[in-house]
Amino acid sequence: MNLPSHGSNPQYVYEALKLKQPDKIVDFSVNTNPLGPPDFLKDQWGALFELVTDYPDPLASELRSVIADKEGLNIDQVLSGNGAAELIFLVASLFHGKKALIVSPAFSEYEQALLSYGCEVEEYILEEKNGWQLDPPVLLKALKGKDLVVICNPNNPTGIMYDKNHILEVISYAKDQKTLVMIDEAFYDFAENSPTLAAELPNYQNLIILRSLTKMYAIAGVRLGYVLGNRDLIHKLEDRKPHWSVNSLAQQLGIRCLHEANHVRKTQQFIKAERERVQSSLHSLSYSVLKSNVNFFLVKDLHQHRTDQLYQFLLSKGIVTRHTRNFKGLEGSHLRMAVKTREENDRMLEQMKEWRGEC
Ligand SMILES: Cc1ncc(COP(=O)(O)O)c(C=O)c1O
Repeated sequence: MNLPSHGSNPQYVYEALKLKQPDKIVDFSVNTNPLGPPDFLKDQWGALFELVTDYPDPLASELRSVIADKEGLNIDQVLSGNGAAELIFLVASLFHGKKALIVSPAFSEYEQALLSYGCEVEEYILEEKNGWQLDPPVLLKALKGKDLVVICNPNNPTGIMYDKNHILEVISYAKDQKTLVMIDEAFYDFAENSPTLAAELPNYQNLIILRSLTKMYAIAGVRLGYVLGNRDLIHKLEDRKPHWSVNSLAQQLGIRCLHEANHVRKTQQFIKAERERVQSSLHSLSYSVLKSNVNFFLVKDLHQHRTDQLYQFLLSKGIVTRHTRNFKGLEGSHLRMAVKTREENDRMLEQMKEWRGEC
């Protein structure tokens, strides 16, 4: 059975499993902000209409300059893309015939992109017994001889934030090895104590940071992400990027979203409180839940072999979680659940309780 390799678009899950899709479903497989986009987006939607007729600024100068100011960098250290996904493929395009290491379980697009550019890919698999944290001695050994290492922090799918000193140890060792370290910070702004390593960019030419605006600002349909890195690298990526890949709407929304500090704060507070509430309810229903720093977490039935059955039971009840079969190191052992609105979370909890009755 070929389940979709990403969350969202749940119709394809029902299709793959030949299950009837209930009339009402809640999609816990998608990790965007449950509070939705900032208010300005609806308020100013009409005025944004005029953007559709002209070609976008191919350099996205205003957007890049807002990002650069925010990060204390120069504009030529920033490149925006059609979602972080486009930038993952752009970075991968630099590694044809080279060797890469992916810290796994992790977002599947890294491998997909690297393989599509003829890169040789190895995985460093995190272990549950280490709390899914990095184990620097083992990781450094695996890193030897690699041209690129990819780390997602906070990590999708575990929701874990790595020890900052461990990552710095990796970047520093990689610097001596002339290995590029790409840190995907797509979810960094959901964590209250920001784990970002952007401040380290001036110290490490071998560091590139990837961000997405589609999660925090709930604009996944519009597509917007960016990378921060050294000038030469950004220049190389820019040369390979399709001219108008970041559309005008995405550029304008990005500029405005990046001024929405209140929205970010409100989201962080909501996510923390709601995640704790949901996790504690799941815990008291005897599910095993993984402590998370962000807007999603892993859960499994204590009888692990039942996780597949739980997945299908929830689907039949209109609760779509993210299977983990294509995450190396998980292979379906857990389900990933997003933190949604209180009402939606309650609906999920009701079904998790009902499943206990079925066991
Ligand atoms: C870790 C991670 N990085 C990058 C992306 C891609 O984000 P975008 O929507 O900006 O392409 C995702 C999307 O789910 C993700 O989970």
